[in-house]
Amino acid sequence: MNLSALLRAAAWLQQDGDYFFPVEASTNAGEVDRIYYFIFWVSAVSFALIVGATIYFAIKYRRTKVGMNPEDSPHHSTSIEIVWSVIPTLFMIVMFKWGFDDYVDRRTPPGDAYQVNVHAQKWSWAYSYDEGAETGMGWLGGEGEGLVVPVGVPIKLRIDSADVLHSFSVPAFRIKMDAVPGRYTYAWFEATKIGEYPVFCTEYCGTRHSRMLSKVQVLSQEDFDAWMKKQGNLADLPPVEAGQKLFQRKCASCHNMDGSKLIGPALNGLYGKEESLVGGAKVTVDDNYLRESILEPSAKIVEGYPDAMTPFAGQLSEDEISWLITYIKSVK
Ligand code: CUA
Repeated sequence: MNLSALLRAAAWLQQDGDYFFPVEASTNAGEVDRIYYFIFWVSAVSFALIVGATIYFAIKYRRTKVGMNPEDSPHHSTSIEIVWSVIPTLFMIVMFKWGFDDYVDRRTPPGDAYQVNVHAQKWSWAYSYDEGAETGMGWLGGEGEGLVVPVGVPIKLRIDSADVLHSFSVPAFRIKMDAVPGRYTYAWFEATKIGEYPVFCTEYCGTRHSRMLSKVQVLSQEDFDAWMKKQGNLADLPPVEAGQKLFQRKCASCHNMDGSKLIGPALNGLYGKEESLVGGAKVTVDDNYLRESILEPSAKIVEGYPDAMTPFAGQLSEDEISWLITYIKSVK
């Protein structure tokens, strides 16, 4: 999740696509592109006709002599007015009907669609499945799994946000839907090509909006079933590993474990250290301080860092909080 990953993704986006679009990887993508190109070419031809006529008339009827009077010309032509009103109107009716039909189709997931829940938060994406599996952001060629789905199955996304407006966008599928705090929104797609596709946040949501990246992994049905079977319960893992997995999902977009500053402080070697807080107080990092900083991060802000973290109160179970603390303690 650095600049080179971002550039790789941008280059990747155009692979197998065309000048305007990335690869078409969902049943919906071809239709969106056809509508786009229809509107594009109607606009391009109209532009050429209107600007061409403007230039032609400006030259043909320009004033060539000082004091010259305008020639007599017809003031009105009903047939020309009908032609240039009716023909563009017909094109616009086609644009509206075609676009509206596709919009309605996008807003209406098939009844048998497989549901995955998408969770947006400053600044990460997480995914959860009714079978109990949970995955974190993931990025092309990088860590984490992202949204894992089977090919050729309609997927319904139920999207929520823990803090501000975000927007879940998968250009290869031509879908985009806002994540709104306090309510669910929905989007759906059916992937047609096995592979990995980038996910972007397309609603400006703060400092690390541009890095709020993720990926979709499209697998064959057999691979997906095998993957789902492997998704063990975090509770079956040793607490340090469970904490590490959880950290990757929930924390790693803002906190490093290698001593470098991200949005928030690095968390390695933190336990037992004395931190200076905004306002001059000092605090020794212990379990209670970590717990409070996870659940109510604004309570104590470390000097030199913004009060930017979304509270995790209500989002984590007692076990999960405990795993995270165990993991943070373990990294020197
Ligand atoms: Cu989340 Cu932009």
